[in-house]
Amino acid sequence: MNIIICENYQKASQKSAVIIKKLLKLKPNCKLGLATGSTPIGLYQELIRASDNNEISFKDVQTYNLDEYCNISIDNEQSYYYFMHKNLFHHIYINERNVHIPFARAGYEKEDCMTYNNLLNQNQVDLQVLGIGTNGHIGFNEPNTSFEQETFIVDLDLQTRLDNQRFFGSLEAVPTKAITMGIKNIMNAKHIVLIASGVNKAKTIKRLVEGSISEEFPASILKIHPNVDLIIDADAASELDK
Ligand code: F6R
Repeated sequence: MNIIICENYQKASQKSAVIIKKLLKLKPNCKLGLATGSTPIGLYQELIRASDNNEISFKDVQTYNLDEYCNISIDNEQSYYYFMHKNLFHHIYINERNVHIPFARAGYEKEDCMTYNNLLNQNQVDLQVLGIGTNGHIGFNEPNTSFEQETFIVDLDLQTRLDNQRFFGSLEAVPTKAITMGIKNIMNAKHIVLIASGVNKAKTIKRLVEGSISEEFPASILKIHPNVDLIIDADAASELDK
């Protein structure tokens, strides 16, 4: 893993944007894997700015999101579909047909996982953006998920639901299930950019960088991927051995 420590969240967002802008210029029809959550919002703002300035174009870009809650409608403000349109897609010129966000319909979960997994197998992601859960999850691959796991329906960890209750107002309102790319799908990306910011991620980043590879800590598998940039701000880096 190539570890890049930035002064603050804004610098970390700018650094990750530089990497993505470079790819878009080199390969205008690239396939981008995208994440939701608080972390990539600054990155998306940088990309919107670059698109406004005609520095980059998303015209031929295809996107593949990591995950989505189960049984949530796309106009629910907490859906990841809504999040991606609000924070990125509505502000850039992108062909909606090139936007891929997984969904799992009640009663058709198996089929929907298979459909998304086939899509991923047919389209290798050039660059995957990741955040990391405080419990080490990537996508919604919670602790003790097999490293061989492909797209599946996950029972969300209590820790993940506690972390995400800030968006829903109460723990009861946080969905209990989600559809997510599996670790195997994530590892198939040619290049991975994991961003982390804030003191609440410091212990997680310490374990990622200094700990061993184990299914108990899903992000640890990234250590064997040949091309990972770990972009963290000073707060997230604050517990690392000097
Ligand atoms: C989001 C995702 C999650 C988040 C992680 C961190 O699509 O797959 O793994 O990246 O939960 O979330 P934030 O950025 O809100 O701390």
